[in-house]
Amino acid sequence: MKRPRERREFLLEAGLLVAATASLPTEASTAQKVPAGKDAKEIHENPTEDVSPPEDLMREHGVLNRILLIYGEILQRLNTGKDFPVEVLAGAAGIIRNFIEDYHEKLEEDHLFPRFEQAGKLVDLVRVLRQQHQAGRRLTASIQARASASTLSTAAERKALATDLDLFVRMYRPHEAREDTILFPAIRSVVSAHEFDVMGDQFEDKEHALFGKAGFEGVVERVAGLERTLGIYELAQFTPKV
Ligand SMILES: [Fe+2]
Ligand SMILES: [Fe+2]
Repeated sequence: MKRPRERREFLLEAGLLVAATASLPTEASTAQKVPAGKDAKEIHENPTEDVSPPEDLMREHGVLNRILLIYGEILQRLNTGKDFPVEVLAGAAGIIRNFIEDYHEKLEEDHLFPRFEQAGKLVDLVRVLRQQHQAGRRLTASIQARASASTLSTAAERKALATDLDLFVRMYRPHEAREDTILFPAIRSVVSAHEFDVMGDQFEDKEHALFGKAGFEGVVERVAGLERTLGIYELAQFTPKV
């Protein structure tokens, strides 16, 4: 996606040239503009800028999906009487609270939902999505309250946690699937091309204000760390041996 020139100059000044140029492959001279100390590896690892709003939101759903996999694994262990590292549960719930609820869903509530409501489009869907955000926040508060070894020492608490995790996973799979397939593809129908560009910049600016220079990639790394501790990081373990 092509951005206004001002944005590009701001990125140059902010030292974000590496990431910005990574997504502008048509400019033959970008390589020589890479600041000292930055190399091709870093360009590859930090493709954070010039992401369109739907792509930005969808890759955040990727983080949500990976947390749902963590929740699902913990749920299975609770249901089969197996142990799990409680710090993984606390870490996963913390990422849901900070990254998904206070950032991703806030973007949807502040920048997306009102535009659909004002345009009178997909209003029934948006109403349910709003209700589900609130239900998710209540479940996360409950999961966070239970995410300690002492709390989970009783069978009743383990069962209550299993119920919360099950309700959370069951709601968020259809929630995000509906946003990915219905709401996000319709964003262009409720905003102008200029507003679409501005929205992308606002999302990126907020991401870095809240999550630092590492931004999205930093959050993905934290999720990967939780997966490693839980033992579900290696992708090949999920390939059927047939
Ligand atoms: Fe949502
Ligand atoms: Fe979402």
